[in-house]
Amino acid sequence: MANSARLLDVRNLRTSFFTGEGEVKAVNDVSYHLDQGEVIAIVGESGCGKSITQLSVMQLVQSPPGKIIGGEVMFDGQSLLQYAPTSKEMRAVRGAGIAMIFQEPMTSLNPVLTVGRQLSEVIMVHAKVGKKEAWARGIRALEAVGIPEPEERMKVYPFEMSGGMRQRVMIATAVACNSKVIIADEPTTALDVTTQAQVMELLLDLVKSHDKSLIIITHNLGLVSRYAQRVYVMYAGKIIEQGTTEQLLTAPQHPYTIGLLNSMPKLEGDTDADLLPIEGAPPSLNNLPDQCAFLPRCRLAQDRCRTSPFPDMRIVGDLEHSAACHLR
Ligand SMILES: Nc1ncnc2c1ncn2[C@@H]1O[C@H](COP(=O)(O)OP(=O)(O)OP(=O)(O)O)[C@@H](O)[C@H]1O
Ligand SMILES: [Mg+2]
Repeated sequence: MANSARLLDVRNLRTSFFTGEGEVKAVNDVSYHLDQGEVIAIVGESGCGKSITQLSVMQLVQSPPGKIIGGEVMFDGQSLLQYAPTSKEMRAVRGAGIAMIFQEPMTSLNPVLTVGRQLSEVIMVHAKVGKKEAWARGIRALEAVGIPEPEERMKVYPFEMSGGMRQRVMIATAVACNSKVIIADEPTTALDVTTQAQVMELLLDLVKSHDKSLIIITHNLGLVSRYAQRVYVMYAGKIIEQGTTEQLLTAPQHPYTIGLLNSMPKLEGDTDADLLPIEGAPPSLNNLPDQCAFLPRCRLAQDRCRTSPFPDMRIVGDLEHSAACHLR
């Protein structure tokens, strides 16, 4: 794919938390990119650094204890890390540039303000329009994300809405700001299956009809197959495999990716008995070994895995498909 289409290009990003227990390397040399109009997924177990990677891109990591200690974030031709987190450039990126939709929107919606007030305030700031126009645009945004009776819904408080509705309000905010990139951080985990599917369909609709680009963050490699064109698999703060969705699902190379696939239902009718969880737990990020971080859990580990440092990503098979494993 041509580099000119590259909307977001993250290179060698490092973010650590400096705590009483030492340096927690939450994002440890992460590189990925997102092209215009593309849907990508970032997949991995809890605690592997998916959210902190995206929060770093947005410069929303709590500091202290967090700190971005290296790398580069190119967005729409601008190098973002040169800007201070509170700068007007970063605020503009967070509005019209990149919008993040969180797992549980109650944490990002203000409970004491009505939905309409919050939505229209965001619109006033980003679209630089007056109160009335912002309110009207808010109604249109709620309508665009399939919220019935949008005029009435503007007047309610977040707690008066269901989880699915709150997700839609978050998505409406991104629509109203005309954000180019939407980062959906496990947008559906708190929702029932039907609502999950609806929220995903809504996001994909926006990608198609409004030429957005989407990053889906998820534990569920199965979910990805239906939506994303490319996938990045994260483990212990690093990307350990990347490729097209088809490559990852049909020819996974890293033993961790293979483990992830075996541990989740793929086919309809798969029962729990068909699932093979990955034994053990990921290493603590404040005490990483100078070895492959997956080694203690790897069924395929060999001597050279024990004697070599953490492997680099290298191309495995087809171009674009790469993995960080000594055995590939
Ligand atoms: N304030 C903090 N202080 C110390 N460590 C932190 C802090 N915030 C996050 N971390 C660590 O950073 C690592 C990455 O966290 P992150 O939230 O990115 O994981 P995740 O992959 O998004 O997990 P989940 O799937 O559960 O959302 C975790 O191991 C976490 O313990
Ligand atoms: Mg997370």
